[in-house]
Amino acid sequence: MKKEFSDCYDLVVYQIYPRSFLDSNGDGIGDLSGIISKLDYIRSIGANAIWLCPIFKSPQCDNGYDISDYRDIDPIYGTMTDFERLLAAAHSKGIKVIMDFVANHTSSEHEWFKRARTSREDPYHDYYYWADEPLTDWRAEFGGSTWEYNEPTGEYYLHSFAVGQPDVNWTNPKVREEYKAIVDFWVAKGVDGFRCDVLDHISKDFAKGLRRNGPHLHEYIREVFGRDHLTNIYTVGEAETTEESILATCGQDRRELKSVFQFSHLAVGRKGRYTPVPHKMDEVKDILVEWQRFTAAHDLLYILLTDNHDRPWFNSRMGDDRALRYESATCVATMVYLLKGIPFIYQGQEIGCANSHFTDISAFNDVECLGYYAEQKGRIPDDELLAEINFGSRDNSRRPFAWDGTASHGFSTAAPWLPYASRSGEINLADDLNREKSVFRYYEALFALRGARHVLRHGEWTQVLPERENCFVFLREEGKERILVVCNCEKAQTLTELPKGKLLLSNHKRTAGANGEYAPYECAVYDLTE
Ligand code: GLC
Ligand code: CA
Repeated sequence: MKKEFSDCYDLVVYQIYPRSFLDSNGDGIGDLSGIISKLDYIRSIGANAIWLCPIFKSPQCDNGYDISDYRDIDPIYGTMTDFERLLAAAHSKGIKVIMDFVANHTSSEHEWFKRARTSREDPYHDYYYWADEPLTDWRAEFGGSTWEYNEPTGEYYLHSFAVGQPDVNWTNPKVREEYKAIVDFWVAKGVDGFRCDVLDHISKDFAKGLRRNGPHLHEYIREVFGRDHLTNIYTVGEAETTEESILATCGQDRRELKSVFQFSHLAVGRKGRYTPVPHKMDEVKDILVEWQRFTAAHDLLYILLTDNHDRPWFNSRMGDDRALRYESATCVATMVYLLKGIPFIYQGQEIGCANSHFTDISAFNDVECLGYYAEQKGRIPDDELLAEINFGSRDNSRRPFAWDGTASHGFSTAAPWLPYASRSGEINLADDLNREKSVFRYYEALFALRGARHVLRHGEWTQVLPERENCFVFLREEGKERILVVCNCEKAQTLTELPKGKLLLSNHKRTAGANGEYAPYECAVYDLTE
C-alpha cells in the first residue's frame, strides 16, 4: 500500500456535530469556541483527527448541508478567526482537521443560485439543472418531488434533497473550477482532509434514470481530488457502497479518494429508516467479515464505524441499551475498532448514548423526519408514527452532548436548540466517569491499546471460529505479534477452544486464565505473542 494510504491506519477520527457539542456564548447552539475548549477531551479518547459537520454560512434548512457561502463560517458557530484559532489549537495538539465538502448542492440562498434563478441568460443559470417540465418522477430525499417550479424563468430546478438545496450542475466545467478553488481555499488554510457529502450524486443521467453514479462520476472526482498537491490530503466519500464502486473510487492508482464509508452493516435491524425488524449481531458480523476480506484482497482502506449524525444510535438498535448498555456499547466498540481500518467515533458514542423517547413532534427538528411525519400524518395513528420517528429519526444522535447530569447538562446556559436526549439525566459524561462501568474509560483504554500496538493498526486480520454463532473472534498479526480479540454477542456461551494468552483488555471482571464462559456482550483482548 502506498504510504499516503497506509499512514491513514494511524488516524482515529472523532466526528463532531458542531451545533450539539458545546455552546460557549449562551445562545443554545454549539460553536467553534466550544470545540476549542474540548480539544484535550477529544485527545484523551485517543482521537487524533476531528471531522466537523458543515460550519459554513448557511440558512440551516438541513443544519448546514445547505451552504450559502463555502468560504465563510456561519455566525452561529463563530468567525473565520475562530476557525483559524481552532485549526491552530488542534494542530498544536496533534489533531488533524477534516472538513465536510458538500458539492452536490448549494443552498438556494447561495449567490450562484440567487442569480441563476433570475433569468435563463444569467451566467450562473447553467450552474444548476433546469427543465421546462420535470424530467423524472423522482421523489426528493426529504419529501415531495425533486423538481421545484421557479417563477422568474418559468422552469423547474432539480433538488435531490430539500427544496432549499438545489443540485449543482457538474457537467458545467465552470462549476468544477469553482469546487477546485473551494478545496484549494481550505487546503491553503491548512485543513487536513475532506469528508465528501453524497459525492456519488454529482454525476447523473436523466435519460437512464440515474440519480447518482452517472457516467462522469469518476472523471469529476479525479479532476478535483486527483491533483498532485492533494496527495497527502485525507479524503473519505459518502458514496454508493458496492464492492465495484468502492474499488473504482478508492483504488490506489485511481487518484480519486482515499476511502469511502461502507454503511451496509448499519441497515441490519431495520426496514427503511423507521421500521425495526428482528436481528442478530451475527448479521453485522457477517457483513464486516466480508468487507475485511474484500478490502484486504484489494489493498483498500476500510472505515470502522457504527454511528454518525444521520443515524439513530447503533447500540439502541443492535445492542441492549438498558440493563447491558455498558457491556454492549463496549463490546461493539471492540469488535469494530480492532478490525483493520480507520476508526470513526461519533460524539456521544464514548459515553454510550442511546435513543430518546419523546411523545410530541415538537421535540424534533430534522428536516427528514419532519418531512416523513407530514407525509404520513393521518395515514397511521399518531402514537405509531411517533414510535417510528423515535426509532429512526436522525435527531437521536443530534441532541446536545450531555457533559454532566445538571439541568443544562453543561452544554449551554440557554435553552438548547434541540431538546436534550430524554435519558441525559442518566447518560452523561460526568456520571459515566463516576461509574465503575464507565464507557468512556473503556474507550480510553481501547484506543490507548490500539495506539500502543502497531499490530492493531497495521497488522493482518483473520477470523477465528468462523463457524461459531453469537460471537465474533479474530486475530491481528504482524511479524511475531499476535493479538486475539474475542467478542461474545447477545447470549452467554462457553468458548473453550480458544488459544490462551495474556489478558490486555476486558469489559468484565475477567482475569487471565479464567475459564471460557463469556457473558452476554462480554469481550476480551489477549496478547498471544510468544
Ligand atoms: C448527507 C449528510 C446528511 C445530509 C445529506 C444532504 O447524507 O450526511 O446529513 O442531510 O447528505 O446533504
Ligand atoms: Ca453558541
